[in-house]
Amino acid sequence: MKHRGRGASGARRRRTAAGRFVVLEGLDGAGTTTQARLLGERLRAAGRRVHVTAEPSGGPAGALVRQVLSGRVAGRDGRAFDPRALALLFAADRLDHHADEIAPKLAAGVQVISDRYTLSSLAYQGAAFGDMDWVAEINRAAPAPDLTVFLRVSPRVALPRRRAASLDREIFEVDGFQRRVAASYERALEARRAAGDRIVEVDGALAVDAVAEAIWAAVAALD
Ligand code: TYD
Repeated sequence: MKHRGRGASGARRRRTAAGRFVVLEGLDGAGTTTQARLLGERLRAAGRRVHVTAEPSGGPAGALVRQVLSGRVAGRDGRAFDPRALALLFAADRLDHHADEIAPKLAAGVQVISDRYTLSSLAYQGAAFGDMDWVAEINRAAPAPDLTVFLRVSPRVALPRRRAASLDREIFEVDGFQRRVAASYERALEARRAAGDRIVEVDGALAVDAVAEAIWAAVAALD
């Protein structure tokens, strides 16, 4: 709902200030899902309207991505799903997610927090087949967030955490692959910083509350 302010004449209309778009990123097990929830709770407690979301999203392309990740959709005769086709599905999900869910919320003045966004594609798909430039190209139309928070953890800390949380093993949770993703994140961070994105790094190995506090400080600095 638009907030309409009245000027002295009663006819002036004040535009709703757009919400901020904050993205949390990191390796599997870095804590992005927990921290997205905590940030949402804290913003709500501060009186802000908040929408917490994630990628792969709950939209149609996101549903297909999740079926590929869990192995329920594969190539014929048990062949792996083509990794470039999967990169395109992630990019399609992102554009649909932004257009259908994120942009309307931001326009209505709601703060949007997304657990993963473009940086995940650069890191994971970049690690999967090594052509980060192409991954960047297919994601070019995705609007940049106002802030990206990268939760830095070593793969040695992240993977056991992740295993403790879930019995399912998705296709990206193989140790060697996570180490490649970690290296790929470094390149991706450098590229997005050079492109002008605002990115803050937080030590994800700290206690949950300390990580939440550091994220809060970075988000508060946006105002
Ligand atoms: P999911 O279990 O939904 O998320 P999380 O593990 O963060 O709770 O799995 C998402 C997986 O997909 C995760 O391994 C990261 C990966 N991913 C990509 O490879 N590319 C992307 O663009 C995104 C958004 C996620």
